[in-house]
Amino acid sequence: MKRIAILTAGGDTPALNATIHGAAVRANQRNIELIGLLRGFSSLFNPRVPHVVLNPLFGMIPELDPTHGGTILGSSRTYVDPDDAAQLDKTCDRLKKLGVEGIICIGGDGTLNGMQSICDRIPTVLAPKTIDNDLGLNYPHETDKWVRETDASAAAGFRYRINEEGASTENGHFQIDQMVNYVTPGFATATFVSAGGVCRVRTTAESHRRIAIIEVMGRHSGYLALGSAYGQPDLILIPEVAIDIDHLADRVREIYDRQRNVVIVCGEGVRDQSGKILGASQETTDPSGNLAISGAAEVLRSRLIDIIGDDFFRWEDRNTSAERAIFTRKVGHTQRGGRPLAFDRFHAAQLGGKAVDMLLEGCNNSVAILQWNQTEGFHVSTYDGNGFRDSWGQIHARSVHSTFYDADRLQISTKGVEYLLPIFRQAIGADDVEHIKETLFDSGNLVRRYHSVNTDIEKRLRFLDP
Ligand code: F6P
Repeated sequence: MKRIAILTAGGDTPALNATIHGAAVRANQRNIELIGLLRGFSSLFNPRVPHVVLNPLFGMIPELDPTHGGTILGSSRTYVDPDDAAQLDKTCDRLKKLGVEGIICIGGDGTLNGMQSICDRIPTVLAPKTIDNDLGLNYPHETDKWVRETDASAAAGFRYRINEEGASTENGHFQIDQMVNYVTPGFATATFVSAGGVCRVRTTAESHRRIAIIEVMGRHSGYLALGSAYGQPDLILIPEVAIDIDHLADRVREIYDRQRNVVIVCGEGVRDQSGKILGASQETTDPSGNLAISGAAEVLRSRLIDIIGDDFFRWEDRNTSAERAIFTRKVGHTQRGGRPLAFDRFHAAQLGGKAVDMLLEGCNNSVAILQWNQTEGFHVSTYDGNGFRDSWGQIHARSVHSTFYDADRLQISTKGVEYLLPIFRQAIGADDVEHIKETLFDSGNLVRRYHSVNTDIEKRLRFLDP
């Protein structure tokens, strides 16, 4: 193999450039040319296949900065249609003309689905990324536990359900070191942002005797909500556990009575007891059927206003009304952007390097994974792409394992804490702190315009002569 292509697809994360950088470093060590395809799979639809040579003469282009969030290659949720054989032939033909002998896709579950059809024609591997931390398995062969829904849940849009009974327990304990792809790059930085947001909202809720509902990303997976526990919210709601609104209102009243403020974190995909997603959902182009979800916090707010009512707040003049006391905030895309923390940078780079090695070793339809155990700590390994599929070929978002969450206290459980500790114990590097000190209030920021890396990459574009 002489030349490899790399692309970034799906929602971005702060660690994508770090993964590309890790791949470029390894490609240089192994004398492989690395070219970057633009905006996910999009450039493959263009007969001229716009691309960038990332390691000319086995050096490194200066735009590829592993500490810069986002991706210099751009990303999209556009995928090759697996049923369109003619388009697939054209696409792969273009890649062959470019001399591409293997592809690294940096992506999540949607990308793993999307790259499948290309694997039959050109060796392709996945280097995982997602702030949602939902690409992985809670235990090997977890996919065997998925069953099809037959009843009302299916009508509500939930066609599959995991049957965790008796799964992966040893002496009745779920073993975290069995997890496949323990954590994905991007999750630590996103959690840093959401937990920080929780801390900041807290003090204002405290001052004004208010109840804050903070919506964090993560779609159907509650890892980001769970990680926000570092910001010490009073209550955490995750999509995996249906909300009992009366129980929630009881907990809110109890906490408010005690401290005159409450901070609730909810994952954007939280559901009510009928299984319905609280927020509004919209179809996307993602091949894993991912929905765009938004607005759960607003729905929760109006339900709590109805149940708790004004009198509760007016008593002892704690606030003027339920409307005034209960407010919502979305952490939103700030979770996906900015400088990646040391944890994400380091492990993203390792996964990028591993993906290069995998292609050179002859892997195809495989995933570079990040494993953790007590003796070795974090280390990279390989997993078969089909190992993430159930018997119907579906890839499901990894859910927060039931032992990680205390559904009665609406809080992270002891086991959940055990899961987070290895990731966050040393997630922030000294340079991350120094970076804030040196750059945020740099007086030059006030007079210099932001210089987007896109303008430089544009000048490096190369094309295939059709
Ligand atoms: O998958 C990453 C993610 O950030 C989700 O947490 C969120 O639901 C979605 O992407 C938002 O996507 P978009 O970029 O289309 O707003």
